[in-house]
Amino acid sequence: MKKYQSYIGGKWIDSLSKETIPVDDPATGKILGEMACAKKEDVDLAIEAASKAFKSRILVDMHPLERVKLMRKIAEELRKVSKEAGKLLCYENGKPLAGAEYEFVDAANYFDYYGGLTDKLEGKTIPVNKGVIDYTVLEPYGVSAHIIPWNYPISMLGRSLACSFATGNSTIVKTPEQTPLAAASFFAQALEKAGIPKGTINIICGYGDEAGSYLTHHKDVAQITFTGSVPTGKKILHAAAERAIPTVIELGGKSAAIVYPDADLDKVVETAKGAIFGHAGQICSAMSRAVVHKSVKNELLEKLSKLSKSLKVGAGYEGGELTPVISEKQLQKVENYSRSGTQAGAEAITGGKRVDRPGYFFEATVFDKVKQDMTIANEEIFGPVLSVIEYQDPEEAIKIANDSDYGLAAGVFTKNLNQATEASNKLEVGQVYVNSWFTGSIATPFGGYKRSGFSREKGQEALKSYLQVKNIGIQL
Ligand code: NAI
Ligand code: MG
Repeated sequence: MKKYQSYIGGKWIDSLSKETIPVDDPATGKILGEMACAKKEDVDLAIEAASKAFKSRILVDMHPLERVKLMRKIAEELRKVSKEAGKLLCYENGKPLAGAEYEFVDAANYFDYYGGLTDKLEGKTIPVNKGVIDYTVLEPYGVSAHIIPWNYPISMLGRSLACSFATGNSTIVKTPEQTPLAAASFFAQALEKAGIPKGTINIICGYGDEAGSYLTHHKDVAQITFTGSVPTGKKILHAAAERAIPTVIELGGKSAAIVYPDADLDKVVETAKGAIFGHAGQICSAMSRAVVHKSVKNELLEKLSKLSKSLKVGAGYEGGELTPVISEKQLQKVENYSRSGTQAGAEAITGGKRVDRPGYFFEATVFDKVKQDMTIANEEIFGPVLSVIEYQDPEEAIKIANDSDYGLAAGVFTKNLNQATEASNKLEVGQVYVNSWFTGSIATPFGGYKRSGFSREKGQEALKSYLQVKNIGIQL
């Protein structure tokens, strides 16, 4: 059994208690390896290392062009290992192999992108009284704590880490207990090979309510970044509120695609394949609701049903298209939601139960006759389950799409550009996709409205979350 260690202060170490977390393959349930389980004393070590690195000003005082080079080097090292590392990630996470490999490329892209901005963090001079020079400088907060979810453990890690590193913070990453292996090994090794100053980045894993909670409550943590569920997000906000420190919060969604009568239905179906059945629907911005015009609903349902039955069920490493959910617990959660849908009067036209094979597979499921007051129309299921809601007039469609506590993403399918822009203006979400889904790149701001959070990650927008502004006034 391979053991994986914490990466603290430039060293790989066991947890002081020697306790480990077993990590399994969601496609079989077999144990893949053991991860060092960080407890309070291990979190303390990581915080000590990060604080020491930050106080030494090694990143802040580094010539900006040197920081650019260092970040480009990290990107290069991550790209080099993407094949091998992607394989390990594929085993622990369950997603298709190409997607797992791409997470390392994606993380590399973030280091390239923010590396290109790290020498362009400029303050301004502000005209005040005669005889006064007034200027601003942008400074990092200090020790930045990142709590990472299991669905995109390497992409998410790269996304927030590249930003906090580019801005000169020292970072502690708490990886998810379900998928910590590729981060602890390949990712940390890439950082080490690139030659990051010791302690500027530390990667630990532990249980959320233990290591995660202790880390986010720690007095020496100056900023927190969190992506995950609403209940945990609220706990993080409480922890931050106790010490009045800033947070980046991204909390998932219940995103609706509006399908107008003139929509290209094949395009909708092709999009749904990735947007709700890809990675078994475990995506914060998944297309989990389809708000469909009455006149095209039956035709669309037929096509969706065909799609869901055509998907090859299997592990990511065996070319599966419908891959497993992350754990038995998650599978039961999806089952319970599905059952609640049926009990409330919705009809699973396809799918609706776990797949009869080892591992944590759930059938690609499409619910018809979903009404707004049903749980499956409101809560984030995080499984391959699409809820179809019928509408008759365009205003009603917008109303249904907006009738959610969440506001992460929404999509519109139509050939009418006026209709698309009008709907885009009215939708209460952080991103709108037109005739597509997940459209955007690392350069486009991403985040939620309403209960989906309030921060923006990706793009230049994200840098603001890791910087504070200091004003300096000089009386001549
Ligand atoms: P979670 O939100 O509890 O876990 C996400 C991360 O937070 C993990 O690293 C976990 O260890 C950490 N964490 C948990 N409790 C913590 C605490 N008290 N203090 C600090 N850190 C803590 O999500 P979980 O339990 O893995 O999944 C439950 C549901 O959350 C899923 O079914 C899904 O609906 C949602 N979820 C949404 C994600 C998104 O991208 N929006 C990602 C992961 C989960
Ligand atoms: Mg597992």
